[in-house]
Amino acid sequence: MEKLVIQGGKRLSGEVEISGAKNATLPILAAALLADGESVIENVPNLRDISTMVRLLRSLGARVTQSNGSISVKPTNSLVPLAPYKLVSTMRASICVLGPLLGRLHEAEVSLPGGCVIGPRPIDLHIKGLEALGAKITIEHGYVKAKAKELRGREIYLGGSFGSSVLATGNVMMAAVLAKGETWIENAACEPEVEDLANFLICMGAKIEGGGTHLLRIQGVKKLRGARHRVIPDRIEAGTFMVAGAMSRGDVMVKNVIPQHNNALIDKLRAAGADVTHTKNTVRVRGKKVLKPVDVTTLPYPGFPTDLQAQMMALMTITPGISVITEKIYPDRFMHVSELNRMGSKVFMEGSSAIVTGVKRLSGAHVMASDLRASAALLLAGLVAEGRTDVHRIYHLDRGYEKVEEKMKGLGAAVWREKE
Ligand code: EPZ
Repeated sequence: MEKLVIQGGKRLSGEVEISGAKNATLPILAAALLADGESVIENVPNLRDISTMVRLLRSLGARVTQSNGSISVKPTNSLVPLAPYKLVSTMRASICVLGPLLGRLHEAEVSLPGGCVIGPRPIDLHIKGLEALGAKITIEHGYVKAKAKELRGREIYLGGSFGSSVLATGNVMMAAVLAKGETWIENAACEPEVEDLANFLICMGAKIEGGGTHLLRIQGVKKLRGARHRVIPDRIEAGTFMVAGAMSRGDVMVKNVIPQHNNALIDKLRAAGADVTHTKNTVRVRGKKVLKPVDVTTLPYPGFPTDLQAQMMALMTITPGISVITEKIYPDRFMHVSELNRMGSKVFMEGSSAIVTGVKRLSGAHVMASDLRASAALLLAGLVAEGRTDVHRIYHLDRGYEKVEEKMKGLGAAVWREKE
């Protein structure tokens, strides 16, 4: 096991290249199973979760090769519709092979993803949508088993008690593109990653309208061809570095981004007093000496992203005044609070809201990463804390951030990796 060590107090400045989006790449790799030929996915980040998906696609029988940032996926005629526990249990997002397997083979057996530290991760909306298309679904021995004589388009409402669902929208869309007739998905997720998946499917020959909106219209086609596709930049990685610029009172420019994908964060950073400017594909964040507290509530896109909640909290811990951070997507997503408080922050929980009272300075400490975005928040806190911070179990961070210490070092941070 490894840990990240950070010597706090450095002001970050300079430019950082943002990698391709993990959460666009994963469903797009799964969607490649639907094609009759080879697909090549470009701008793929080099992350643990991507390697897990590559292993999963190979175990399903696809031929997958990787070369510097691109992945080729060639489905074969001997695809096996079984996603085993040993792989799915290491990455919940593996559930996104359910839709394409069902769409292509009319059957699928995927280990239930189970919960994770950010909360229970139900799949009732996935099941609701796939059953609406004609699948018979049972849950047996920890697996979700789906079978369909044929898949027929329907009108499907996919809103849940926490709003729309990103991967449920993806799964139903991937099952509908080869179904007979027309499918309407209402209250579809609008996240840019869902729009990117729709764009890839369209390149493959799918007929989809409304990608990136709450209403998707899909006209089933007979078959899909392989396609070449460059995934969008990772708005969560970009947002994490933007917060680092504000927190360290630095001057950070993130490059290769789509600024409007971070509108909600930019709005909050400006409200907190940071100076944020952007061009077509860069965003520059200059942190001001004294920032102002802002309240944040996470919502489905284009609302404030839950995946940036922990990072925003880290910023608020050193912002004078009181801010309230409310989590509407994963009400329990606060594993970072106790670790931040070990570094001297003053955060207390009231239901699914965190009340943050800013402190002058955090102090470096040994802290434990628990999930991908909580570990990012601990890294950010270490950047500004007084003294040394050791972030343990850093494999959580490696799931979603490519070469994070190199990128941070490039901005002037004193950060390195050590064996535990
Ligand atoms: C995607 O997960 C992302 N993962 C998550 O990012 C992200 O936090 C989440 O969307 C929300 O934006 C990937 O894309 C691989 P959801 P997903 O279904 O699709 C509830 C990261 O850090 N729900 O949109 O699994 C669910 O419990 C990860 O990169 C149901 O109730 O999330 C949650 O409260 C973490 N029933 C809400 O909807 C369902 O069937 C949103 O979840 C499905 C979800």
